[in-house]
Amino acid sequence: MDTATTGFEGVPGRLAGAVMARLNRDMEVAAVDELAPAPGASVLAVGFGPGVGIAELVACLPHGQIAGVDPSATMVSAARQRNRAAFDAGRVRLVEAGVASIPWPDAAFSGVVAVNSMQLWEPLDVALREIARVLAPGGRLVTLTHRWAIEKRVPLDQWIDTTGALLRRCGLVEITHRTAPFRSGEGFVLGARMPLDGNPMAP
Ligand SMILES: C[S@@+](CC[C@H](N)C(=O)[O-])C[C@H]1O[C@@H](n2cnc3c(N)ncnc32)[C@H](O)[C@@H]1O
Repeated sequence: MDTATTGFEGVPGRLAGAVMARLNRDMEVAAVDELAPAPGASVLAVGFGPGVGIAELVACLPHGQIAGVDPSATMVSAARQRNRAAFDAGRVRLVEAGVASIPWPDAAFSGVVAVNSMQLWEPLDVALREIARVLAPGGRLVTLTHRWAIEKRVPLDQWIDTTGALLRRCGLVEITHRTAPFRSGEGFVLGARMPLDGNPMAP
């Protein structure tokens, strides 16, 4: 099994999904609030898990397009089930894929959101380059991540330095970060924007 999906597949994945749907709901809602997409925006959710954030996007984007990638077949199935009506109406496309190969064209999205997933992206530089590729000029990236999940890997200061440098290298600007309290612990909120004149990395 791919390390990206370990713990997120099969019966353990379904159990984890049920727990995350309850405990991480406030983070998913906060991420969409932070992104503040226009009603007609097109937004990609990366690592959507059980699909609570997808449901929030469906509610906020009556005329928008909602897409998602998650490498876990179990999570894709759970999120489709949770958002059955919007999925059947063609308002939501959820694909079994990792952040390193997003099956959408360049500049396809005005927003990208990821909750408790970024800490799993390896290699991180490839993932962020791919996100920069699919962000339209002026588009915004918002990630929210449990602080403990980051600090299991590296100290927060190091994470801030590394992610900031990588985002800048991908051409993103207006990089912001802060911590905020959530039901399941402190979260790290990271934001960045693609400049209006587009991705300098694009050919
Ligand atoms: C801790 S769960 C978070 C789920 C949900 N966003 C939440 O906060 O409750 C991490 C999710 O990221 C997904 N994931 C893991 N590696 C990924 C990758 N390389 N690209 C995209 N998603 C990934 C997992 O399959 C899982 O659904």
